[in-house]
Amino acid sequence: MLEITGLTKRYPGEKQPALQDINLKVKEGEFVAVLGRSGAGKSTLIRCINRLVEPDSGSIVWKGRRITGMNASELRSLRREIGFVFQHFNLLPRLPVLTNVIAGRFGMMPRWRSLTGLFTEGDRKLALASLEEVGLASLAAKRVEALSGGQRQRVAIARVLMQQPSLLLGDEPISSLDPVTSERIMRYIGGLHRERGMTVLLNLHDVISAKAFATRIIGLSGGRIVFDGLPQQLGDQELIRIYPPD
Ligand SMILES: Nc1ncnc2c1ncn2[C@@H]1O[C@H](COP(=O)(O)OP(=O)(O)OP(=O)(O)O)[C@@H](O)[C@H]1O
Ligand SMILES: [Mg+2]
Repeated sequence: MLEITGLTKRYPGEKQPALQDINLKVKEGEFVAVLGRSGAGKSTLIRCINRLVEPDSGSIVWKGRRITGMNASELRSLRREIGFVFQHFNLLPRLPVLTNVIAGRFGMMPRWRSLTGLFTEGDRKLALASLEEVGLASLAAKRVEALSGGQRQRVAIARVLMQQPSLLLGDEPISSLDPVTSERIMRYIGGLHRERGMTVLLNLHDVISAKAFATRIIGLSGGRIVFDGLPQQLGDQELIRIYPPD
């Protein structure tokens, strides 16, 4: 269970809080899509969960462990267990695709350099299988800097899959992909969710994908939860609440 209680975050110098008193319980095995307009607080929410952003108040607990309050070494081990696909991919552009993917196995350690060359055959196989899933196996040896935006996005997803996380957090993981590739990736994530019981929490801009793949939808507006329900409960009224016009 991921349990978020009274989570509030205001960035320094900002008048409005980015998140206001968020209360949310996600059961293990749920697939949650977070929707909301630009600036609604979606990225802030996801980044608070792995403490890339420090909350002002409130608590976040994952499987009985309080994330808020963890020290640096506890956070490092937590991040090996929680996969995170960034809105901006955070790859190592000068290194080959395969190396970037294998690095996922070790979490986001800055010591990746010392690891280069120490990969096992098992690591390689798993990385190639992850690349296969995102349709990029043929580019394994290419440097990331020579890839398109959407291809980089898929490398980032393969890297996280390599980690075999129990909780997958994604900040618009399919936003730079074409519809066919988006669907393929969503299907794959959906499969991991169903077959391995992986808990998934994704920020999405695409309402149709959210309805097709998520088991639960959270709508954020102005830093507050304005909708929390099943995909089939998301009708026009609810969409207007989540995406209020200017
Ligand atoms: N580092 C920051 N410093 C100051 N304000 C920030 C910072 N990051 C985000 N904000 C503000 O917090 C609010 C929520 O931002 P957030 O990035 O969480 O929105 P979002 O829902 O992810 O939007 P988008 O769909 O555009 O990615 C916005 O008003 C934004 O301007
Ligand atoms: Mg965002």
